[in-house]
Amino acid sequence: MSDANVKFWAAMSSRYDSFIDEVLGKNIRPKILEKLNEEENLGRLIEFGCGTGYFTKTLANKSESIISTDISEEMLEIAKERLKEIEFQVMDVQNCKFDDETFDTAFMGLVLLFADDPQKALEESSRILKSGGSLIIADPDISFLAPYAMLRFRFRALLKYRRIPSTSHVLNQKEIINMLDKTGFEVAIKEIIQDESNSNSVSANYIKAINKK
Ligand SMILES: C[S@@+](CC[C@H](N)C(=O)[O-])C[C@H]1O[C@@H](n2cnc3c(N)ncnc32)[C@H](O)[C@@H]1O
Repeated sequence: MSDANVKFWAAMSSRYDSFIDEVLGKNIRPKILEKLNEEENLGRLIEFGCGTGYFTKTLANKSESIISTDISEEMLEIAKERLKEIEFQVMDVQNCKFDDETFDTAFMGLVLLFADDPQKALEESSRILKSGGSLIIADPDISFLAPYAMLRFRFRALLKYRRIPSTSHVLNQKEIINMLDKTGFEVAIKEIIQDESNSNSVSANYIKAINKK
C-alpha cells in the first residue's frame, strides 16, 4: 500500500461523512445498502475498506461473523466509536493477514477504485475466500455521465476531496469483470445501480462473483 494513500484517508477521515454522498449523488450509497440488504447467509465475512462503517452494520446482520478492515486507522476510529460490537482491524486489501480460505464472503464498498493495484486486491480476496465463497464489489462508475455531468462530478470531487488520491482509477463494469475472470471468479450478479432522479449522480456497479479456485 502506498503511504500517500494512507495519509490521504487519514486527512479525509473527519470530513468524509459530510461530503461523500454529495460527491457521488445522495441516493447512491443508500441504493447500494438496499441491494446489500437483499443478501442472506453471508457466513464468515470480511469487509475491506470499511471506512467510517456505512455498510458494516448491514453486513453484520447478514453474516455469522464479521471483521471490518481499512488501511486508515483514523477512518476506523470513527467506525469503532459508532459500532462498538464490531471487530475492526487495520489492513490493506492487497496484503491481507489472514490464511488461505478463511472467509465465506468478502465485501468492498467504494474501495476497489482506490487500491494501488486492483488486480492484486482481487487476487488477495480470492486467496482468503473459501472455494465457492463470494466477493461482493460495489464501486462507483462514471461512464454513464453525460459530458457536462462528468465535468460537474469532477468539480465536486475536487472541491470536496481537495485533491484526488493518486491511486484512484474509476473502473467500469467491463474492466472489473475482466479482472475477476482473470483471477478465477465467476460473476453471479452484475447490476448497475443508478439514480434516475438525478442526472448528475454517478452510478455504481454491484457485482457478486464466486471464487472458483
Ligand atoms: C470511499 S471510502 C469508502 C468507505 C466505506 N466503505 C463507505 O462506503 O463509506 C474508501 C475507503 O477505502 C480505504 N482504502 C483505500 N485504499 C485501501 C487499501 N489498499 N486497503 C484497504 N482499504 C483501503 C480508505 O481508507 C477509505 O476508508
